[in-house]
Amino acid sequence: MPVKIYIPCDTTALAMGADEVAKTVEFQSREAGLSADIIRNGSRGLFYLEPLVEVATARGRIAFGPVEPEDVPGLIETLMEHGDVFEGKHPLYLGLTEEIPYLARQQRLTFARAGIIDPFSIADYQAHDGFEGLKRALALIDSAGPQGIVDEVKNSGLRGRGGAAFPTGIKWQTVLDTPAEQKYIVCNADEGDSGTFADRLLMEADPFTLIEGMIIAGLAVGANQGYIYLRSEYPQADKILNQAIKTAYAQGYLGKNIQGSGQHFDLEVRLGAGAYICGEETSLLESLEGKRGLVRAKPPLPAIEGLFGLPTIVNNVISLASVPVILAKGGDYYRDYGMGRSRGTLPVQLAGNIKQGGLVELAFGETLHNLVFDFGGGTFSGKPAKAIQVGGPLGAYLPQAQWHTPLDYEAFAANNAVLGHGGVVVFDTSVDMAKQARFAMEFCKIESCGKCTPCRIGSVRGVEVIDKIISHDNQEQNLELLNDLCDTMELGSLCAMGGMTPYPVRSVIEHFSGDLLKTVTGNEQQE
Ligand SMILES: Cc1cc2nc3c(=O)[nH]c(=O)nc-3n(C[C@H](O)[C@H](O)[C@H](O)COP(=O)(O)O)c2cc1C
Ligand code: SF4
Repeated sequence: MPVKIYIPCDTTALAMGADEVAKTVEFQSREAGLSADIIRNGSRGLFYLEPLVEVATARGRIAFGPVEPEDVPGLIETLMEHGDVFEGKHPLYLGLTEEIPYLARQQRLTFARAGIIDPFSIADYQAHDGFEGLKRALALIDSAGPQGIVDEVKNSGLRGRGGAAFPTGIKWQTVLDTPAEQKYIVCNADEGDSGTFADRLLMEADPFTLIEGMIIAGLAVGANQGYIYLRSEYPQADKILNQAIKTAYAQGYLGKNIQGSGQHFDLEVRLGAGAYICGEETSLLESLEGKRGLVRAKPPLPAIEGLFGLPTIVNNVISLASVPVILAKGGDYYRDYGMGRSRGTLPVQLAGNIKQGGLVELAFGETLHNLVFDFGGGTFSGKPAKAIQVGGPLGAYLPQAQWHTPLDYEAFAANNAVLGHGGVVVFDTSVDMAKQARFAMEFCKIESCGKCTPCRIGSVRGVEVIDKIISHDNQEQNLELLNDLCDTMELGSLCAMGGMTPYPVRSVIEHFSGDLLKTVTGNEQQE
């Protein structure tokens, strides 16, 4: 029997040289006379160990990492010499993958299959409980109608993982209750937030989960057409998704008469062109209609007048990918994870200046401190951490005093912070927080869609005012002006782009004023 060797093919592993490693494994095993079956799986999200090579043994999969091409001959030699008893026989030996503490301590519901299965294989997906949720959804349609599916999602307590945390079941109910000839399911795969990669990882490691979630959403509200709006910066996800969609059609999971049920759902991928604002749902819909990505005023909500003016569910990748497990195991099962009104699990992405970057899926309630220091191992530079930004470029910078706040939408809101898409970006003491405040305004200036004045003009003025503060020009008055400007942007902007830019800026004023004012007081950066 050939030995099964797993080498990931997601973007991160590829960037770390996984293709080269795979080629070398193939060549070296042939040279050594080892019969090997190389499987290109997705990443498990332990990015600091990529390329993570796994060897299937009777005990389970054994991990080695990070593996470089020059490590391969030694690895093959060890395999030849010791069979599957490697313990301590190779410097990159990590033991059973499932027992690596970073992975073992996670609570994986949405990412349960990531890195385990071959993302191109529908058989592998089925063998790991794939399409169990769809089976249950089809049964619910027969017994309770679409309302049965919507009720299960409502009961799970799932809130949108794209940023606004709106209850998914309620959004679905609105679309179900709105009569129309045609309805749509749109998956928001624009993933523009800094430090976020959960959507990409899911699409590259387990694309059928997203497809299954979208089919279930279609059944729940009576929509037979779905679109995945994918950012063009994700070519590998594009390739894998399109292949998976093709396979799903061939196997009767997409198209007419899904698995003989009489139900119908079509799905295609549409590529964006690189504008952050196209992640905002109404701007995304404009773009999907072939127009410039300008924000639409709400109401009407997309659930009532969405794509081409028809009722549309717009949900994030992770929201939709959480639906299959909710249907398969029941809303109660999912709801039992989490705290307060934040139910289920949150896939947190650890990035920035961090030693062990990667994806950690846990029930809501874990602290930022544990994530960054226990899982992440602290900063990559080894210097003390100074600030942690959560929730993308429009999220607040949290000072040390707030790192013990539990990950929970309401607990974060109480700190004038947001969880957003779960992106965690760590900064060490070398960061200049005045520059970070300026960056927030400049980001808004560049990415603003331009439709409303507080954001379009406010962000330009914001950069100017921060520059004045930094260069010690009427510092006190300009700080007051900056606060006023933040009020105007927060209260007067049409969408959260302008409305949230004050979050990072204000967090710097409140918690890191030493950096903003250092030129006048002579203070050095707070270490
Ligand atoms: C400026 C801006 C950018 C956004 N970018 C994204 C994004 O990249 N991906 C995403 O899922 N949601 C993004 N959102 C949130 C969407 O507008 C919307 O709330 C989300 O797609 C709804 O799906 P959910 O309920 O499943 O979270 C963004 C919002 C704003 C204001
Ligand atoms: S806040 Fe900015 S991005 Fe949003 S509508 Fe106004 S100009 Fe456009």
